[in-house]
Amino acid sequence: MYKLFFRLAFQRMDPEQAHYAAFRWIRLAARIPVLRTFAAAALAPRLKELRTEALGLRMHGPFGLAAGFDKNAVAIDGMAMLGFDHIEIGTVTGEPQPGNPKKRLFRLVADRALINRMGFNNEGSAAVAARLASRNPVFRTTVGVNIGKTKVVPEAEAAADYVKSTEALAGHADYLVVNVSSPNTPGLRDLQATESLRPLLTAVREAADRTVTTRRVPLLVKIAPDLADEDVDAVADLAVELGLDGIIATNTTIAREDLGLKSDPALVGETGGLSGAPLKERSLAVLSRLYARVGDRITLVGVGGVENAEDAWQRILAGATLVQGYSAFIYEGPFYARAIHQGLAARLAASPYATLAEAVGAETRKKAAL
Ligand SMILES: Cc1cc2nc3c(=O)[nH]c(=O)nc-3n(C[C@H](O)[C@H](O)[C@H](O)COP(=O)(O)O)c2cc1C
Repeated sequence: MYKLFFRLAFQRMDPEQAHYAAFRWIRLAARIPVLRTFAAAALAPRLKELRTEALGLRMHGPFGLAAGFDKNAVAIDGMAMLGFDHIEIGTVTGEPQPGNPKKRLFRLVADRALINRMGFNNEGSAAVAARLASRNPVFRTTVGVNIGKTKVVPEAEAAADYVKSTEALAGHADYLVVNVSSPNTPGLRDLQATESLRPLLTAVREAADRTVTTRRVPLLVKIAPDLADEDVDAVADLAVELGLDGIIATNTTIAREDLGLKSDPALVGETGGLSGAPLKERSLAVLSRLYARVGDRITLVGVGGVENAEDAWQRILAGATLVQGYSAFIYEGPFYARAIHQGLAARLAASPYATLAEAVGAETRKKAAL
């Protein structure tokens, strides 16, 4: 049904226009009490066997919306209504910025993928903080805040920009994510090198602790799938050393080779980050590698090409306590989260594990023991 609708309506529209159109519908539905109650009952049945504790937070389940969909925190209730157990807003930058010139979002339908070079278009930390402060939540959900560098800020001053966002937003965040992995802000991914990442994460941690004194805001870092294996290990070791709470693996990829892409080469050649199905294998490999390195010392979040319950289950077995999705939501539509929840519950029931927590990392542990 959605697939037909997608083909008839969204596929003909410019992808970014389609995004805003869908967004308007979601926000509108969430504002109408009868509609949102009906939609949440249908799309977000909270299954008690999937209840998840992560980052010191209690969540309805392990599956959330990845960053980039709700950059300005305008549709948190709408996305909770659609069944996502946590919503990661952002990326928010210190200052407001328009992002890259359009056209900057492309659908690779044959590959169930997207390419984007949005470039952190967002209203900036002060405006998003004000919105979060005045929010009157309808649904109980977990809100993560993902922060990144303002484009015009030179790399040498990056930490101050992240600190500015932290000071504005930490008080409204159930958890905070330092994004150093988007390919669309020049130089951003260089911040993943440990000599840059150490002072950056330390500065953000201190700013969060200064700003919020009543609780410890969990701090995570989001990494690229394009890191060499040794660099993945280096980030993992640094995260342990700094007492970071989590690592999100992964962001979009700049790779195109060896992904078996079937779409028109002109489309495949668009500059930007590739997400969706072709990213699945590499994101899973990075996640397994991280789990083999850090085990249960750090919470891992698996994202990249999660299309269905089997993908989400494989991320959990590889070591993810939380799983996220974005691109497949565009292709699968409003039943995406529900299908994942129901399939996860069925897989857990058929597995040797009593709880999801027991399943986390089971496959990676098994392989390591071999
Ligand atoms: C259009 C678009 C915009 C995105 N914007 C952000 C962003 O602002 N910050 C971020 O950390 N990740 C961003 N991402 C990356 C996603 O959060 C996610 O890591 C990536 O798409 C892989 O997951 P997927 O295959 O389920 O889409 C964006 C992805 C897309 C498709």
